Amino acid sequence: MSVHKEIRKVTTHVLLEMKQRGEKISMLTAYDYTMAKIIDSSGIDVVLVGDSASNVMAGHETTLPITLDQMIYHASSVVRAIDRALVVVDLPFGSYQANSKEALNSAIRTMKESGAHAIKLEGGKEVKESIERILTAGIPVMGHLGLTPQSIYKFGTYEVRAKEDEEADRLMEDAKLLEQYGCFAIVLEKIPAALATQVAKSLTIPVIGIGAGGGVDGQVLVTHDMLGMTHEFSPRFLRRYLNLYESMGNAFKQYIADVKSKSFPSKKEQY
Ligand code: KIV
Repeated sequence: MSVHKEIRKVTTHVLLEMKQRGEKISMLTAYDYTMAKIIDSSGIDVVLVGDSASNVMAGHETTLPITLDQMIYHASSVVRAIDRALVVVDLPFGSYQANSKEALNSAIRTMKESGAHAIKLEGGKEVKESIERILTAGIPVMGHLGLTPQSIYKFGTYEVRAKEDEEADRLMEDAKLLEQYGCFAIVLEKIPAALATQVAKSLTIPVIGIGAGGGVDGQVLVTHDMLGMTHEFSPRFLRRYLNLYESMGNAFKQYIADVKSKSFPSKKEQY
């Protein structure tokens, strides 16, 4: 008899059941093994290996520079840590927009080389063929609408999207199309709460929001932001659960002082 506890792994079907019974879905980003281990053992439903790694891990201003190889490296580190959560990986900018064959190759490489469970890509009807082709290979696809950071140079700012009727109508139409194409869930980023609620009510698949209010089926945040490790970034939607920038800084200062004063290592901390 196995001594291991049975863990019910989160699948795309589990997420659908959660929406159907009104249980909110929790999702956080992770880019490395250690963080993913802590997040997964805390009971998160979905871990997103976001292309926000480009900003958070590599210090780029946008998500555009991160490569497919770099995303696969982050994703494989995360997957090694996960026992329960569904691991979704962003296809990075330039790895799926050119044509559906390239999109499928990028998705296959991501799944095969990282061991992740699903991919996410940005856009609506313009990525129809890519989504449908990726799905033919049995790879679950999560959509992403609203503020899609890979299009930041088209938008020009990180302001709230779809405030005007025309863009809101287009977003609603795209959300319905993503469901029709076969996406198992959609992320809505930085759009009015009323619109996000309407989208979530109109779809059977789960809608996960970031800066999209409480009327959607789940929430996602960038882990380093919610832990207060990043401190230059303070959008209204961000709830900080810790101020790790300050407490880590204090720990580092204390260590430096201990080294300089020779109080570290003590007799007990040596062989
Ligand atoms: O890359 C990312 O972290 C994301 C989330 C903000 C949804 O796409």
